[in-house]
Amino acid sequence: MAIKYTIPRGTFDVLPKDSYKWEIIEAKFRHIATRFGYREIITPIFEHAEVFERSVGDSSDIVQKEMYRFTDRKGRIFALRPEGTAPVIRSYVENNLGQDNQIAKLFYIGPMFRYDRPQAGRSRQFSQFGIECIGTNNPYYDAETIQVFYVFLKDLGLKNFSVEVNSVGCESCSQTYNQALIKYFEPHLDALCNDCKNRLNNNPKRLLDCKIKTCQAITKNAPIMIDYLDDNCKEHFQQVQNYLKIMKVPFTVNPHIVRGLDYYTNTAFEFINNNLGAQNALGGGGRYNKLVEQFGGKHTPSVGFAGGTTRLLLSMENENLLDGLEPFPVVYFIALGDNAKIKAIEMVSWLRQNNIHVEFDLDRTSLKSQLKNADRLNASYAFILGEDELNKNICLQKNLKTGEQIELPLDNYRELYSMNL
Ligand code: HAM
Repeated sequence: MAIKYTIPRGTFDVLPKDSYKWEIIEAKFRHIATRFGYREIITPIFEHAEVFERSVGDSSDIVQKEMYRFTDRKGRIFALRPEGTAPVIRSYVENNLGQDNQIAKLFYIGPMFRYDRPQAGRSRQFSQFGIECIGTNNPYYDAETIQVFYVFLKDLGLKNFSVEVNSVGCESCSQTYNQALIKYFEPHLDALCNDCKNRLNNNPKRLLDCKIKTCQAITKNAPIMIDYLDDNCKEHFQQVQNYLKIMKVPFTVNPHIVRGLDYYTNTAFEFINNNLGAQNALGGGGRYNKLVEQFGGKHTPSVGFAGGTTRLLLSMENENLLDGLEPFPVVYFIALGDNAKIKAIEMVSWLRQNNIHVEFDLDRTSLKSQLKNADRLNASYAFILGEDELNKNICLQKNLKTGEQIELPLDNYRELYSMNL
């Protein structure tokens, strides 16, 4: 007996009934990113594992628990990319994209992989859309990055989301803050989960992100980063907020945002949709001023974000924003009888060559079932060609919305059809 294969856990097929939704989102993102001066970069789906281990961070969940790491036939260690920023920076340095001292504004769309526990809005293969603005520390660009995401969601018609911003400070404020966190959490050590006990030494900020209730109760009163920002970082954060106000991007300051990746400095932000359940982040990002140096480039402050396509799609479906957007055929061509079918093949070929979306099913013989099918596909017109029509040298054109029916002469159908559609 033949074996029936099933899809790997945590992955999904995008079926034809849904693929047009992905196309809408991706086309809109390309359009908006281009409007803001971003150009597309396409990097490989796998990279040397170190690209992520050294940037996203050895102590992060993504690297420790979620990365698809594998050895190839020659013993080299690779990883399926869990995110898009590190590969873009690897490429930026490798291809010397900053050589003319211009800001590099790059966007990407594509699949990412994380070995995470699958649930609504969380899968092991998922698609991200993102931008990276490489080569400036100007807080204007932090705000512009947030604005790109905001304009994109607004242009898609989304209403239910909020923009939450924070600053995680520079390296030196971060160190002071980490000391304050260690001091705060140490007396509570016994009550913390095992992961958090480890986090306290490796990366105390990550405790603030723990999803376990007992840890969250302790975290509630922990010191907040904003109180530990030095004057420069405070000023930078203030300016980001000022620019957002000028751009009319509504936001709230959420001092509890700690991103799950290690490379952030200063601005950190998330786009939240509270109707999505546990996986409520539509996307997130922030500034990462040290990453290019970590990849062997010169000091190149940068900022960016990435959003998740599946969560965006769920949000759009919740707000009925995708109803009626499925592309439909203009013509459903019905040919009845052998001679009519030969003429129909000629006409259908011409219509398709002239950019008209035509559905044509040579195997169906019944007029009724074909009209039903035309209706199901939401076609605008049915063209009906039977032996009778052929003898009269005409083709019937039925408007499926109004029921109106006209006769088109077969001799000069080229001019007439293009005029009538
Ligand atoms: P991230 O917050 O890890 O950031 O991921 C960004 C978004 O990708 C999430 O908010 C979510 O919408 C989506 N996402 C993440 N994991 C999954 C999953 N398992 N299933 C479905 N969707 C998921 C980054 O990846 C950074 N590289 C963002 C960035 C760009 N920062 C600066 N530049």
